[in-house]
Amino acid sequence: MDVKKLDQFAKEIIVEAGKKIRDAFSYDIEIETKSGANDLVTNIDRETELFFIEKIKAFDSSHRILGEEGMGEKVESLEGVVWIIDPIDGTMNFVKQHRHFMITIGVYVDGVGILGYIFDVMREDLFYAIAGQGAWYNDSPMRKLQPLKIEEAVIGINANWVTPNNRINHEKIIELVRTVRGTRSYGSAAMEIAFVVSGKLDAYISMRLAPWDIGGGVVIAKEVGAIATNFNGNPFDFLTTDTFLIANPYIHQLILDNYIEEKKML
Ligand code: IPD
Ligand code: CA
Ligand code: CA
Repeated sequence: MDVKKLDQFAKEIIVEAGKKIRDAFSYDIEIETKSGANDLVTNIDRETELFFIEKIKAFDSSHRILGEEGMGEKVESLEGVVWIIDPIDGTMNFVKQHRHFMITIGVYVDGVGILGYIFDVMREDLFYAIAGQGAWYNDSPMRKLQPLKIEEAVIGINANWVTPNNRINHEKIIELVRTVRGTRSYGSAAMEIAFVVSGKLDAYISMRLAPWDIGGGVVIAKEVGAIATNFNGNPFDFLTTDTFLIANPYIHQLILDNYIEEKKML
């Protein structure tokens, strides 16, 4: 497989899709809800996913697409070449803020991530990696994450998890929030992952993510030494939803051991 050619192609279609999304602000965006009132989708999410599918199938019809909007084929295994795509990660930000949303793509061959992309559509900023060759922020190589103490860490977490809930012991999360230097919440998992791999955040915690939220990000994580697992410390399960912690390697295990205590689901 010509990885360089595939990388060039992926970048071209991401940049083209980004332009289409920015142009969409000059016409009407149709907003619908999915699983609940706060789970949004728009015609632009769907059109962008379709755009990717058409381009990828024209490039190589054997490649399969696992996309959030389900417009590709049903993907039940990661055999062969699979593109894992979130056409807009942070749809609520897209609709409400007109910024802070990402296109994110991971290209997997027989379950192994070989290319990963997170594109900040409004800033036109690309975080990407080629497995085994490194990671880049636009044209600059990204460096390996440096040692740090938990007290110096700035972490991404949603404020819901410091309130009583049935997923996780919130008292432990309060302790974590009091221990670290600061917290942030950006409303796009891919953006928070892009910030962890580039050292702008030191960890990001989520109770439930889907493969398309992280498929691109975990390829980049590997290249810079960030650790990404579920709350059991195992690799994320790409065929379902899972818990997720990505962190600087010096604090990943410490967060898992001391601050994350999942509640048993009834
Ligand atoms: C969502 C965003 C959000 C995260 C949710 C995701 P979407 O993706 O990444 O930050 O908390 O779990 O579903 O729906 O905007 O693609
Ligand atoms: Ca998403
Ligand atoms: Ca999405």
